[in-house]
Amino acid sequence: MSVITVAGQKGGSGKSTLVRNLAILFALDGYKVGIVDADLIQQHSSEFFADRSREGGREVWTGRDDIPGLTVAVWDRSSSIVPQAAIVLAPQADQDSIGDVIQTLGEAVDVVLCDLQGSASVAMIHAIHYADLVLIPVQPSNDDLKSCHSTARHVVQAGKSARRTIPFRIVISRASTGFRPEVERVIEEALENAKLPKLKTPVFERTAFKRASFSRIAPMFEDPKGGASVNLNAVYREVRDTLAQIVEAVKESA
Ligand SMILES: Nc1ncnc2c1ncn2[C@@H]1O[C@H](COP(=O)(O)OP(=O)(O)O)[C@@H](O)[C@H]1O
Ligand SMILES: [Mg+2]
Repeated sequence: MSVITVAGQKGGSGKSTLVRNLAILFALDGYKVGIVDADLIQQHSSEFFADRSREGGREVWTGRDDIPGLTVAVWDRSSSIVPQAAIVLAPQADQDSIGDVIQTLGEAVDVVLCDLQGSASVAMIHAIHYADLVLIPVQPSNDDLKSCHSTARHVVQAGKSARRTIPFRIVISRASTGFRPEVERVIEEALENAKLPKLKTPVFERTAFKRASFSRIAPMFEDPKGGASVNLNAVYREVRDTLAQIVEAVKESA
């Protein structure tokens, strides 16, 4: 199993957007995917992949059956057996359960994606500890830059306590298409000066992502040749290849 943790201490940076699209693209590429939703307030990953209902005061999630070519199952953890599907969703992972959830789900799938709340939290630290790769989406603004520095420091500190290097990449998120404003150049320079590694491919600001949050139709299904879809495929390939290199390097050093 490989674990990708998408972390960041700010809401709205595009964590859930990245998680849900990477999940779909890994699954379409033939990987078995697990999603751990550890955002207990804005459960956007769960809401995208499953329908929520109430049964006797308890929230029940049912996996969607209308995603083209992909099956979705929800592992509600009342059973210790992880269901079989292209995408398995584990909703409502809290700080007490997240480690076990990642571990058990990871044994049943190829890639686990962890979606987190936009704040520094115990759950975030646990998910970083488990990660083969941490992705930190950052919007091109100074506030976001500061919080991404802080998240990167948490990754480095977690690595020190785990006595290993935990690889991470900053993902420039919601970048402008077309003319690149000065502020984006400033952010890229600041990341370079701070030696914070970033993905070459940014996630662009596209209305297709916003539309998907209403329609639950991911850009690659809505318009496979559209800008958002092309962008996501490039992000996906870079994430997949980066992860493969990391896993290979760890094997070689073992
Ligand atoms: N690249 C993007 N282009 C346009 N809208 C985006 C993009 N990324 C995120 N959004 C929108 O911004 C909002 C917050 O994104 P989300 O992924 O939920 O952030 P987070 O999980 O970091 O809080 C959502 O409404 C989403 O549709
Ligand atoms: Mg989110």
